[in-house]
Amino acid sequence: MFSSRTLLQAASILPFLYSTASAQTACNNSPSLCDKAYNNITHLGAHDSPFLRDASTSFSTSGNQYYDTTTQLDAGVRLLSAQVHQQNSTSGSSEWHLCHSSCDLLDAGTLAAWLGTIKTWMDSNPNDVVTILLVNSDNASPSDLGSQFKSSGIDKYAYTPPFTTATSTQWPTLSSLISNNTRLITFVASLPTPSSSTDYPYLLNEFTHVFENGFEVTSPSNYSCTPDRPSGLTTATALSSGRMFLSNHFLEQDQLLGIQSPNDTYANVTNAQTGLGSLGASIAECEGVYNRAPTFVLVDFFNVGPAVASVDAVNGVANSTTGRKSVSTEALDDSTTSGVGGRRTSVVAVVVAVVVGVAFSL
Ligand SMILES: *[C@@H]1O[C@H](CO)[C@@H](O)[C@H](O)[C@H]1NC(C)=O
Ligand SMILES: *[C@@H]1O[C@H](CO)[C@@H](O)[C@H](O)[C@H]1NC(C)=O
Ligand SMILES: *[C@@H]1O[C@H](CO)[C@@H](O)[C@H](O)[C@H]1NC(C)=O
Ligand SMILES: *[C@@H]1O[C@H](CO)[C@@H](O)[C@H](O)[C@H]1NC(C)=O
Ligand SMILES: *[C@@H]1O[C@H](CO)[C@@H](O)[C@H](O)[C@H]1NC(C)=O
Ligand SMILES: *[C@@H]1O[C@H](CO)[C@@H](O)[C@H](O)[C@H]1NC(C)=O
Ligand SMILES: *[C@@H]1O[C@H](CO)[C@@H](O)[C@H](O)[C@H]1NC(C)=O
Repeated sequence: MFSSRTLLQAASILPFLYSTASAQTACNNSPSLCDKAYNNITHLGAHDSPFLRDASTSFSTSGNQYYDTTTQLDAGVRLLSAQVHQQNSTSGSSEWHLCHSSCDLLDAGTLAAWLGTIKTWMDSNPNDVVTILLVNSDNASPSDLGSQFKSSGIDKYAYTPPFTTATSTQWPTLSSLISNNTRLITFVASLPTPSSSTDYPYLLNEFTHVFENGFEVTSPSNYSCTPDRPSGLTTATALSSGRMFLSNHFLEQDQLLGIQSPNDTYANVTNAQTGLGSLGASIAECEGVYNRAPTFVLVDFFNVGPAVASVDAVNGVANSTTGRKSVSTEALDDSTTSGVGGRRTSVVAVVVAVVVGVAFSL
């Protein structure tokens, strides 16, 4: 079944495969990243990773990603964000679910199940460092969250830093995290007081270690590198505090009743390397402000652009990564698949959720 052309192509890449595979192992898809500190590279993040806009959600306008968490990881995403909500059943028991703003709007299942899929991926990708960022919408305690990490089995990969305040110098290299098999870094925004738990010391308060620019941007001209959270930081003090910069880079659009949803039609520019409001332009702008690239960038519709191209470029590994699976760079919509229902379903859900008085936040 192989054409002579395929064979020729295979033969031409053979020497390359041999040299990289035998000489050096790739860390996060590149040998040149192994000796870099965790905070010295740029990690591509999938914003609201489990909230899908695909046939499984009838293409919900609340969905931020076209492809699921496993596909994201396969394609080079290394930070996964999600919102954790408490879902009470009529029998009085409660579960921790991943929901977008409200579980009536989009419920992506339990936290433990999602962690289980990430663990499965990490089991078969032993040279990859993964970061999870949980938005703690209903104030879950460290033991509420930690018990989910434990039951999924992913806690075996959890890294606990030896420091409890921000530091710009002590984060380990990717290869040391990999050789110790402590390849999962977990941030929570935020943990209730008391924020630490001796049982779950790997659950890290995000804003102790990370600062972010603003989100809820609705115009491609309005991205900013200025610190927004935690409060009280300026561009001058944010990095000197030792925190890592997470750049939110996704565009929202106004929906009914002041609710916002991800802007899908402009995603090919938002996630591009150049253009007004592009990821590449924003990385370059913030690199100018801070004299170093963001440690994390968080995007919607990660496959479009593709967003990973800007991240590879700033990491100095453009077109030289290994071990990724390719994914379409196109948008998914109900005309490209057999999905039915589509947008109407989610608008009805939005209205119902507003009527029952749910507070929305992205
Ligand atoms: C991290 O980056 C700084 C410069 O920004 C460099 O001096 C240092 O050697 C780097 N460390 C690692 C481990 O990558
Ligand atoms: C679920 O139940 C807990 C404990 O009774 C309560 O504090 C919480 O507000 C409830 N959450 C929701 C979303 O109803
Ligand atoms: C790896 O494990 C060794 C031995 O326990 C320890 O000294 C070292 O600090 C660990 N490295 C990291 C990055 O955790
Ligand atoms: C963009 O930012 C400007 C200046 O802060 C503000 O006046 C304007 O309302 C913003 N536009 C949008 C669409 O948010
Ligand atoms: C998405 O963003 C683009 C660029 O700003 C804008 O032209 C378009 O109207 C936005 N879409 C919606 C539905 O607001
Ligand atoms: C983005 O998509 C629009 C609509 O399909 C197209 O006109 C435009 O050229 C695309 N821009 C980029 C940068 O791909
Ligand atoms: C990477 O590949 C793309 C598409 O093939 C090309 O446009 C770009 O110039 C390449 N970048 C580098 C740094 O080689």
